[in-house]
Amino acid sequence: METWVDVAEVDSLRPGTCRTVEAVGRQFALARVADEFHLIDNACPHRGSSLGAGTVDGLHLYCPLHGWAFHLGTGACAERPDKPVRTYPVQVRLGKVWANIGTS
Ligand code: FES
Repeated sequence: METWVDVAEVDSLRPGTCRTVEAVGRQFALARVADEFHLIDNACPHRGSSLGAGTVDGLHLYCPLHGWAFHLGTGACAERPDKPVRTYPVQVRLGKVWANIGTS
């Protein structure tokens, strides 16, 4: 089932950065690469650190705790291919970032 929610204002995130956002009682990491936005689960699958506090380099987001790298497009983890993060479709409309976080 599709559930589109407003997760942030476009202007709230500079290109090349990320932050944690909340929607429907859940936390996500929102990253901006140039004018594209990417949303992934916030909890790192290693030890649960907040990926929204990480750093962005190109299309990778690096966990702030031990530096695992996650591809923002696919969620793939470079260090542990068996530990990807979930990614969510994102759209920009009317100055806001919308994400389809689904419900299942
Ligand atoms: S908690 Fe993210 S790499 Fe260890």
